[in-house]
Amino acid sequence: MIEKRIDELIKIINKANYDYYTLDKPTITDQEYDRYMQELERLENENPTLKREDSPTVRVGGQIIDAFKKVTHEIPMLSLGNVFNESEIINFDERVKKVVKDPKYVCELKIDGLSVSLLYKKGKLVRAATRGDGVTGEDITHNAKTIKSIPLSINKDIDIEVRGEIYMSKKSFEKLNASGENFANPRNAAAGSVRQLDSKVAASRKLDCFIYHLPDPEDYDIYTHEDALRFMKELGFNTNPNNKKVNDLKEMLDYINYWTLNRPTLPYEIDGIVIKVNDIHDQQRLGFTARSPKWATAYKFPATEVLTKVKNIIFTVGRTGQVTPSADLEPVRVMGSVISRATLHNEDYVVSKDIRVGDVVAIKKAGDVIPEVVRVLEERRDGTEKKFEMTKNCPICHSSLVKKEAAYYCVNPHCDAKKQEKLIHFTSRKAMNIIGFGDRIIEDFYNLGYLKDDADFYNLKNHKQKLMELEGFGEKSIDNLLEEIEKSKNNSLERLLFGLSIRYVGEKTADILARNFKNIDNLIKASYEEVNSIKDIGDVIAKSVTEYFNDEDNIRLINKLKDYKVNMSYLKEVNTNETFFTDKTFVLTGSLENFTRDEAKIRIESLGGICTGSVSKKTDVVIAGAEAGSKLKKATDLGITVWTEEQFLNELSKY
Ligand code: IVH
Repeated sequence: MIEKRIDELIKIINKANYDYYTLDKPTITDQEYDRYMQELERLENENPTLKREDSPTVRVGGQIIDAFKKVTHEIPMLSLGNVFNESEIINFDERVKKVVKDPKYVCELKIDGLSVSLLYKKGKLVRAATRGDGVTGEDITHNAKTIKSIPLSINKDIDIEVRGEIYMSKKSFEKLNASGENFANPRNAAAGSVRQLDSKVAASRKLDCFIYHLPDPEDYDIYTHEDALRFMKELGFNTNPNNKKVNDLKEMLDYINYWTLNRPTLPYEIDGIVIKVNDIHDQQRLGFTARSPKWATAYKFPATEVLTKVKNIIFTVGRTGQVTPSADLEPVRVMGSVISRATLHNEDYVVSKDIRVGDVVAIKKAGDVIPEVVRVLEERRDGTEKKFEMTKNCPICHSSLVKKEAAYYCVNPHCDAKKQEKLIHFTSRKAMNIIGFGDRIIEDFYNLGYLKDDADFYNLKNHKQKLMELEGFGEKSIDNLLEEIEKSKNNSLERLLFGLSIRYVGEKTADILARNFKNIDNLIKASYEEVNSIKDIGDVIAKSVTEYFNDEDNIRLINKLKDYKVNMSYLKEVNTNETFFTDKTFVLTGSLENFTRDEAKIRIESLGGICTGSVSKKTDVVIAGAEAGSKLKKATDLGITVWTEEQFLNELSKY
């Protein structure tokens, strides 16, 4: 009896949510809705065993997690290539036309939020994950469940993964900031909200979600993107009502022009238009680059300029000690963001534009790029403006700055700002990838004396008791941090080299150095000439690298890291000889006994092969472990070579 009423209430509430959040057509009043919710909550409290996992009462939040679990995306979550003007759009269409005759497209609004993968098993939401680096994201299920436009259960009892964008409406964003928060734009606010451990916070933030991608359409007998959108809508997902199929380039450009003009009328921020080839087989024929599909692109709206006033010019210290001037601005709104800072790059930039404190300036912002001051409105000057003068001392430690080319550096190795920035960089995703350290935690640990240099991360485990006593940390979260730190010891050399903040050594240079020198000792021993002789390494980098390794303090740091058993060798060795794997495309599916997915991927890549997430005609070999599912079936249907794990081992053993 009670169970039946609970089911009935859930049905009524789910329908009301769907009508309101997805169809935008409310069918019951707020009071009626609240009454149903209250009745359901009461029945569930009185009969806890009858509480269903997909009950809408979970939307109010309450679940608190200790830390974010990692999630591996079976099919990587790719990003999109960008185009910025009409001729680049035409080029995209022409590239498509080289492969597909008379292509049809779907145009969509590019929602400015963060992408999410939603996994349903037997029709029930079981996992929501962020994109992360595309392969590994974070489990945010507890927060996704509070978002009313994400169905907790869908209209068919099937297993399915869909992808879309979590975002915050302009109105919710304004309300949130009016309540005392200080997010720069709705995207940051949405991202900050789903990255909360306590789901009550996300529940209170009024997030929303549009679904726009079905990774495996053929599994559901769907062969166009248009049908995928329709299918997902029928399942109960919120798809964007402004998506439109276009038949040619002209219709595509009309859509883009229309939304460029009408963008301000939307209740949420968009930063461009996404163009997708409609036919799934055409998509497969076009394929992917390493980062993004060749069958889709994102047209990014041009940067907009707004006027504001320079309140002050301040100086910040980066990890390499570079001291950079930035403009402290009267806050202004540009493309959904409230901007109060713009980079001024260096002394020459400010002097050449003659930017003064008190000036009215035009600032420009495009996408994720840091806002820039583009010009000064000299006619608005009243004589009270203050001419710029580059500081000669570090704003934090006050030591004298040293000029190298256009930039000024704080060369005091003990400067607190520099040290903290270096520590933050060491943990960052493309460096040692130690997940769980925000800037704030590093600052706190630094100020408490637990982190003085990069090697100290590996000594934190000896302070576990003390760290657990700090406010905001429990045993579980410290354990997670320590586990991430331990794991980072096994990183390949290029991550460490990038993480050390050697001047001019970016991600790519670190990779080139690691690949050529194989281990850190070879690099330490190398002369300037030897480093300079490497292809793609110029004299500036060679000089900086040799200087770095000639410095006693740096060698001391490396020895300390060695004592903690941090790996100092290049593990990504690529076999340049022709192997069976060279330039072939592999897909891993099912579970392997002798490797994790990542290990198998590293082995394949090290022999010159390429690993992708989904099976298409271009796949050369599918390696199927236990319980391989739809990908194995697709491979067999397409007549692609399938290996067992044993055959894979056998092939590996030849090299
Ligand atoms: S499609 C393989 N469609 O834009 C398909 N992405 O710059 C991948 N985004 O990572 C994505 N609106 O977070 C797609 N209608 C839309 C989108 C959209 C926003 C985001 C998404 C993606 C990023 C790429």
